[in-house]
Parts: sequence; C-alpha cells; structure tokens
Amino acid sequence: MVCLTCLKELSTTSGQEHHDSCLRRLFDTTAVRSRLAFTRAEVFQDFRAIHTRRMSISGVQPKLMLHVEDKELRPVATGGRYILKPSPESFPGAAENEHVSMLLGALAGVDTPTCSLVRFADGELAYLVRRFDRAPNGDKIHQEDLTQILAISRTTDGEFKYGRSYEEVGETIYTATDGKLGVVLRFFERVVFSYLIKNGDYHLKNISLRRGPGTKGLSYTDLTPNYDSLNTSLYSPKERVTALDMYKDGEYSSSYQMLGFHCQVDFVDLGRRMGLPTKAAVQAISKVVRKKDQMKQLLRASYMAPVRQAQFIADVDERAMALAMVP
Ligand SMILES: Nc1ncnc2c1ncn2[C@@H]1O[C@H](COP(=O)(O)OP(=O)(O)OP(=O)(O)O)[C@@H](O)[C@H]1O
Ligand SMILES: [Mg+2]
Repeated sequence: MVCLTCLKELSTTSGQEHHDSCLRRLFDTTAVRSRLAFTRAEVFQDFRAIHTRRMSISGVQPKLMLHVEDKELRPVATGGRYILKPSPESFPGAAENEHVSMLLGALAGVDTPTCSLVRFADGELAYLVRRFDRAPNGDKIHQEDLTQILAISRTTDGEFKYGRSYEEVGETIYTATDGKLGVVLRFFERVVFSYLIKNGDYHLKNISLRRGPGTKGLSYTDLTPNYDSLNTSLYSPKERVTALDMYKDGEYSSSYQMLGFHCQVDFVDLGRRMGLPTKAAVQAISKVVRKKDQMKQLLRASYMAPVRQAQFIADVDERAMALAMVP
C-alpha cells in the first residue's frame, strides 16, 4: 500500500492512506479526512450545475473547488483552496495519470504544487491540487495564460489554444518578463518534460505567467507552478506529437523528416531560437532525462492500471532515447 500523496510505501498498519507528513503538506494539519463525503455521480449531477458556472477556475474538464470545513473537504462556489478533478467518463484513470505525472515533473525539477489522490465516497480516486493563485494572506496572485498574454480570442472549436509555436511562446515569455532568460529556460524544461511523458496537450492555456505579490510594474516574474500535466497519448495514441508546433515557421527539421519524431537536436534548435545557449539547452534536457529510472519506479508504484503503467513506462523509455539522440 502506497501513500495517495507521494506514492511511497506506508509503514503504518493504521488503515491510513497518507503519511502524516503528506497530510500536513496538503492541509497544514493531519486533522482532515481526505475521503470525500460524495461520489463522482453526485458531482456531475448536483454540484456541477451550481458551482462550475460561477467558478473562477475554468477549463474543459469538469472540476470542483473545495475547502476544508469541519475537518472535511467540501465543495464551494468561490474561495476554495483546492481543486478537485475527477477522471472524465471518456478518460478512465486520468486522475491517477495526472497525479503521477505531476510527481514526475517534481522529480525533473519542475515547480509543482502540492497534489494528491483522494477517494470519493465509493472509493473511486480523484486528483486534488492546492491552489497556487492565492498568497498565504489570501491575496489573489495575478496570473495569465498564454492565450490571454498573446490576446488570442476564443474560438468555439477550441483551436485557439494551438495556434502558436513553442518558439513564439519562448519569445513572448522573454518579452513579457522583461528579458528573464531564466524563465525561458524553465519553460523550455517544461516543453522537454511534456515530450518525455507524451503529454500532447501542453497548449497555450496550459502555460501561464504570474506576477509575484507586491510586484510593481507590468512585467511578469515567473511561470506559475505546473498544472494539467499528463500522458495524453494513453488515450489518443495518434494525436499530434506536440500540442504546438516547435518552430515559428511551422517547419520540421531534416532529422524529423527522416526519423518521424523529434530528437535532441530539435530541442537544442528550439532552445537556440528562444535565446538559450546550446550548453544550457543540453543541460536542461539531461536534467529532465537523467531522472528516468526514478520516474519508472514511481510509475510502477502508481495507482494507474497495470496496462497503462506499462505503456507509460515504455513511452518514457522511447522518448528518453529520442531526447538523447543526435543523428
Ligand atoms: N493548482 C492550481 N491553482 C490555481 N489555478 C490553477 C491550478 N491548476 C490549474 N489552474 C488554473 O485552472 C485552469 C484549468 O485547469 P486545468 O488546465 O488543470 O483543467 P482542464 O480542464 O484539464 O484544462 P483544459 O482546458 O486544458 O482541458 C488552468 O488553465 C489554470 O489557469
Ligand atoms: Mg488545461
């Protein structure tokens, strides 16, 4: 039995599903019951109509905001400190997938909010994450996603999230942060990480910048912590390799045309186009990939179904190999 938060062995026989230290990280106390008092079916029937419409957190998948009241997690319309994402009907096990993917990100050095799995009343697992858009004193932290920063207007088919390249996003981040190459480098790492875990949905709405509390001026200080990271190819193996084109001109490198997938040189080239020295790009790639064995261990311990676990591990192996390739 492993902890629903960190996926490490639980030594206790107390029937607890989290380490006390993990509960404290999530809730600041151990005195919270993580098991929800309602089922997923109830979420879809009752809560969604009431809560989702007025929620400040949007997105395509149904989700709920929760807060702690009387030592329980309860849905709220506004001001909740947690977001709960159940697995959508059409993507079974998405919650388990997102949870382990976020932990893989943390291993790779990606800034990751505290997250966990929790159980609905009937035992089904859902993904829970602490909100990162509030300062400890409750103040709202200003954050905007790349469709907002690029002033791209919403289209009904949802295609607006895919209309720019990672190269353009890198340039935009550089300008919007008033020339912070460190932020560009962290973004580059997330592009590499998304490739490693076959997250084919790292699109413009899943990339956000924020302004630290108390910051004067209009420039952004950093990326927000990571969110919406998961292996999407487990559900749609034929989807595009990357959510956005790599390069501004929509072109593919000669090695891509030869091999049919991106390898290390393509990412180094992407880095160069964003202003990153070759050495920095190569180091960033190796920083993400060298955790591969620990990642596979975590995947084996995860709550995903064994067939998805095995596929995910094979995916990471395949991509790690591609990211090491310099043809
Ligand atoms: N931990 C968090 N704290 C604060 N805001 C968050 C957090 N996680 C996500 N968000 C915000 O909520 C939005 C929706 O979350 P997320 O991307 O996980 O949902 P989704 O429905 O899967 O999205 P998509 O539209 O990509 O399918 C994000 O675009 C982001 O702005
Ligand atoms: Mg999203």
